[in-house]
Amino acid sequence: MAFNYISAAEAASLIKHGYNIGLSGFTPAGTAKAVTHALATLAEEEHAKGNPFQIGIFTGASTGDACDGILSRAKAIRYRAPYTTNSDFRKAVNGGQIAYNDIHLSQMAQEVRYGFMGKVNMAIIEACEVTEDGKIYLTAAGGISPTVCRLADQIIVELNAAHSKRAMGLHDVYEPLDPPYRREIPIYKPSDRIGTPYIQVDPKKIVGIVETNWPDEARSFADADPLTDKIGQNVADFLAADMKRGIIPPTFLPLQSGVGNIANAVLGALGRDKTIPAFEMYTEVIQNSVIGLIREGRVKFGSACSLTVTNDCLEEIYNDMDFFRDKLVLRPSEISNNPEVVRRLGVISINTAIETDLYGNVNSTHIGGTKMMNGIGGSGDFTRNAYISIFTCPSVAKEGKISAIVPMVSHHDHTEHDVNIIITEQGVADLRGKSPKERAQAIIENCAHPDYKNILWDYIKLTDGKSQTPQAVRAALGMHAELLKSGDMKNVDWSLYK
Ligand code: COA
Repeated sequence: MAFNYISAAEAASLIKHGYNIGLSGFTPAGTAKAVTHALATLAEEEHAKGNPFQIGIFTGASTGDACDGILSRAKAIRYRAPYTTNSDFRKAVNGGQIAYNDIHLSQMAQEVRYGFMGKVNMAIIEACEVTEDGKIYLTAAGGISPTVCRLADQIIVELNAAHSKRAMGLHDVYEPLDPPYRREIPIYKPSDRIGTPYIQVDPKKIVGIVETNWPDEARSFADADPLTDKIGQNVADFLAADMKRGIIPPTFLPLQSGVGNIANAVLGALGRDKTIPAFEMYTEVIQNSVIGLIREGRVKFGSACSLTVTNDCLEEIYNDMDFFRDKLVLRPSEISNNPEVVRRLGVISINTAIETDLYGNVNSTHIGGTKMMNGIGGSGDFTRNAYISIFTCPSVAKEGKISAIVPMVSHHDHTEHDVNIIITEQGVADLRGKSPKERAQAIIENCAHPDYKNILWDYIKLTDGKSQTPQAVRAALGMHAELLKSGDMKNVDWSLYK
């Protein structure tokens, strides 16, 4: 059938106050941009007329400023799930203006299917190609696109010429059945393909195609510095040692690695360490560093949900698809992050903590226990199901005024039952097979900053020292309270709690 080609403003006008919109994308890669931009203008116009205009957003993970940023500033978001990194969105969430549901990324599509969040009125999907019989070829991310395309009443396609049609074939689109009909997800190695390279929709649901030429808002990361290099090296050394003593098989195991500078430094160090064989990735995001390692033959295959790379790197991939076609696959987030598959493949997960406590509980999301930073992302999907789960972070933040090792985390994302290894620039705490008291010893001695070691031991002296998990309940958040009072955790006065 012949499609209706419309402008972004015309597409936005199809979206009504109170709608839930389902968006393509995962990180700024592959997200809708033009229609969301026009939607922000529409919201501002409606607000100027005194009319309410707010929507709910269901998507794969973070988007870019052309979505989360501009819609937050236009006060057009009522509800959003899941993860995001945008600073204006963060301000609005912490100011109480947006209802933000921070759920595990692997669960997003299924919770939408189960009806936990309400109806999907409109899907806005970025594509590099759409055919008259309703085949939508995604761009740089899988996200929750298959699910929102199927559930939405109507679909708008942003046909973005900034993404080459050579992206066709990168994706493996697969949506599991819901219980009680769910079967195993038949992925037995990271490179297995189990679906189709496109999303099949009823073409009658596509109410408009918006042609754009709008590059992804690619993020580039700061160059590695001595601190991130040291953390990266500690991770590589730890994994090499675990392989040497036979805990990790000699063929190695697939890796998942978070996003950001530490993740880049970790991958750099793993790439350089030739005692570690070339490995595969079963991860959610592929960054520039992985593309480099694929070229060097250090990474054999990358399975992910998105190509969160700089635009020149993306161009390079599209131009060299003959090389990359059998080395990369993009999946929907419920498959890239699927707990069943992660556990089957024996994925080694590496994520970043904001703070961790003496017993191995990790906070990845909330500053001071209340202010949302970004969200849990896929860290929980991988951590609980990993062969070995690793958390990294610098031992201190804000010029040493904050210790990342605290008696009790101010918010729990990953529990002591899920976290195996903690690594800072100071060293490695291996928590596997240890009791809580043994873990505390390893974390203080190996990971805490020297300025905080005695402070943490002095905290332990406040406890009875005997319980399964010794805590001095009144003092457990004493370092956080001190930070609020004087701006420096080092000033904590434990005598107040005796
Ligand atoms: N208390 C207060 N602030 C802290 C802190 C602490 N304990 N630890 C870090 N911070 C601050 C830093 O100072 C920095 O502040 P700034 O932006 O003002 O400079 C900010 O938090 C970010 O820290 P940084 O060290 O730059 O780390 P990062 O950019 O790697 O982000 C997380 C760390 C935890 C916020 C980030 O990795 C995240 O959102 N993780 C959760 C989701 C996830 O794991 N995704 C990957 C799954 S695949």
